[in-house]
Amino acid sequence: MQAVIDYLKQNEARSIDALCDYLRFPSVSAQAEHREDLRACAEWVANHCRQIGLEARVCPTAGHPVVVAKTPSPASTSPRRPRFVVYGHYDVQPPEPFDLWKSPPFEPRIEGRSLFARGACDNKGQNLAHLIAVEAYLKTGTELPCELIFVIEGEEEVGSSSLAAFLREHQAELACEAVVISDTGMPSPKHPALTYALRGIAALEVLVHGPARDLHSGIFGGTVDNPALALCQLLAKLRDKRGRIAIPGFYDDVQPLSAYERKQMARLPFNEREYRKLVGVKQLFGERGYTPIEQRSARPTFEINGLTSGYQGEGSKTIIPAWARAKITARLVPNQDPARIARLIRLHLQKLCPPTVRLEVQVTRGADPYLVSPEGPHAQAALRALKAAFGFDPVLLREGGSIPIVNDFKKCLHADSLMLGLALPDDNAHSPNEKFDLDCFAKGQLMSAFLWRELAAAQG
Ligand code: BES
Ligand code: MN
Repeated sequence: MQAVIDYLKQNEARSIDALCDYLRFPSVSAQAEHREDLRACAEWVANHCRQIGLEARVCPTAGHPVVVAKTPSPASTSPRRPRFVVYGHYDVQPPEPFDLWKSPPFEPRIEGRSLFARGACDNKGQNLAHLIAVEAYLKTGTELPCELIFVIEGEEEVGSSSLAAFLREHQAELACEAVVISDTGMPSPKHPALTYALRGIAALEVLVHGPARDLHSGIFGGTVDNPALALCQLLAKLRDKRGRIAIPGFYDDVQPLSAYERKQMARLPFNEREYRKLVGVKQLFGERGYTPIEQRSARPTFEINGLTSGYQGEGSKTIIPAWARAKITARLVPNQDPARIARLIRLHLQKLCPPTVRLEVQVTRGADPYLVSPEGPHAQAALRALKAAFGFDPVLLREGGSIPIVNDFKKCLHADSLMLGLALPDDNAHSPNEKFDLDCFAKGQLMSAFLWRELAAAQG
């Protein structure tokens, strides 16, 4: 093991260079113009895997390719090793708005111990940390106590539809004891974390159609409904002043938080003033009766992610726009069903919509919420690896983000996901100036190295 640790330390600069190369691909899965960039990025990942001694292939799908890479098979006489899948994603969120980036999003820049680029923490830096740990085992000839299969996909940020189908087709090949994922966060470098729950998501696009074309607002204004206003009025009715979502049936399946969980959450570090400063608001807003930690990890929400209508260019243009559109998501907690929630939202909007405009609602792929017991032997092994790498007692987290594929791992492979996040709260995931902390990168590699030893021991 010491050889592995030494290797990681001695190769730190090279590892950072590799991460920079990885980050130069603008692998934005949501934008069709980047299709080739995603393919090239997948090829880079597969090549990198081969260079460090894995057997890798790029698997085409109906969408963006999936990279599968395996540790080499040992001599046939060695005992059977437990097998784990390591999951990550090479796609990234759109970098817009460009003007808020201090340096271009796909030209990695290091400042102190921060590496800035789109995808730095979400998720390239985190999945590369695991690859580097394996590299250390392979290059030092240290025996890996587990067999590993890396599955690195290109559609996580758009719902992982192709990977879900891929899992069903490759069930036997991917059979494993558990799935290891670093695509979540930790409260601070002194609080390494094991995440045992994620929120799900229901995603919709709401279109309000008004007049057949943009109209002169002086000539026609006063006689024709304004779709932008109609949309705002509709959406404004969906949340009340106390932060409750005002959609009939929305909370039906939500299970109340147990006193035990609330007590555990209350023990997590949280400073309201710092948090306000981090997000840049003068007052927080959330569902009344819950703490901010509860609100953002264990309570459902409703958000407008994008709102578009009318003229957006320079100066003014006096029109009644022909249409207005909102991109909407609801974050869901365990036991809520994205399809049911999307239906409830659609029905309620239809009920509220006035006859002066026409409503069109499109439902896009959602994700189920996830919850797993943090008490099993794998979770305990993961906690030991976190402690050994970071030097602090780990905390257990429920987190507010979603990783759509974790439920498919459970359904298809019957495997739980161990989520060991390396992102910090100020890493700006999905925001301008995304970064990854290079200490988290280094400690993440160490954690991964320890993890295989701990997991193999737990497996017995
Ligand atoms: N890494 C995140 C998920 C995450 C973030 C989990 C923070 C826990 C804490 C992931 O890449 C992500 O952003 N997922 C999307 C999924 C969606 C597009 C279906 C999300 O949560 O918005
Ligand atoms: Mn993300």
